[in-house]
Amino acid sequence: MAKVYITRPIADEALALVRGAAQISLWPNPDVPPPRDVILAEVRSADGLLCLLTDAIDAEIIAAGENLRAISNMAVGYDNIDVPAATARNILVCNTPGVLTETTADLAWSLIAAAARRIPEADRYLRAGRWKSWSPQLMLGQDICGSTLGIIGLGRIGQAVARRAKGFNMRILYADLAPKPDAEEALGVRFAELHELLRESDIVSIHTPLTDRTHHLIGARELALMKPSAVLVNTARGTVVDGKALADALREGRIFAAGLDVFESEPPALDDPLLQLDNCVVLPHIGSASVDTRTRMATMAADGLLAALEGRRPPYLVNPEAFSL
Ligand code: DGY
Repeated sequence: MAKVYITRPIADEALALVRGAAQISLWPNPDVPPPRDVILAEVRSADGLLCLLTDAIDAEIIAAGENLRAISNMAVGYDNIDVPAATARNILVCNTPGVLTETTADLAWSLIAAAARRIPEADRYLRAGRWKSWSPQLMLGQDICGSTLGIIGLGRIGQAVARRAKGFNMRILYADLAPKPDAEEALGVRFAELHELLRESDIVSIHTPLTDRTHHLIGARELALMKPSAVLVNTARGTVVDGKALADALREGRIFAAGLDVFESEPPALDDPLLQLDNCVVLPHIGSASVDTRTRMATMAADGLLAALEGRRPPYLVNPEAFSL
């Protein structure tokens, strides 16, 4: 029987699937990832690895997995895995695209509303007993309806965010590696260079994967292009934005607010400047965190892993070049 290491407790359905076909070793703590040396030791005897975006599966770990044939990441993003190192050893790498699209788009929209309309700040204000009366200037935010939305990365999630924006009667710009005429036609969105998008948008929402190209894509220079009334939302990967530059821009009122589900380092330190700012709404990377979606992600990761271990082509393969019949 194949041996599988799973780096965190996942939905029972998914665990049962893997258990039915493989011998499992499971890191038991739901809230703390296994230390690197534990993964390194476990991978030495594993045929398959089911891991999370919090596990850095680098070249050394991959090299240690002498029998390793498959790595299945319970996430759509796979920037935590050294895919070329896996491909060089014909190890299949799987991910979980599609199933989390709508749930993540819902959360991006929650952050847009929360940051633009100052919802967490207003909630804190009321609970602290500071609300004296309805007041003409109290907690003024920015309008969403009728404004311009700039989507950075018009992939599956970016498109789902655009679909929701239509209900808010928004003009929608997008930046991507190249124009996407089909999406333009279907969604009524317009391609823009990144700098044009930043200059013209009232709300900017980031949906690009983390790559060498997108690391610190939004830094001081880009933030300086945005409107003082603009809102920046990031539900993709923290490192796409330079956190220090963002904190400076928010503190100095150079942009209006930000909504962040992701950070350069997760969890961020409690003294991270972004956590000290009232105009920054922060969440603990819960974009895909609905009961149904997390169950589907776990099941899909398990299915992909088992397919790879059984010699079948997994439906979602990050490195198809590593697959041979
Ligand atoms: C992913 O899947 O990459 C998200 O960040 C977590 O759902």
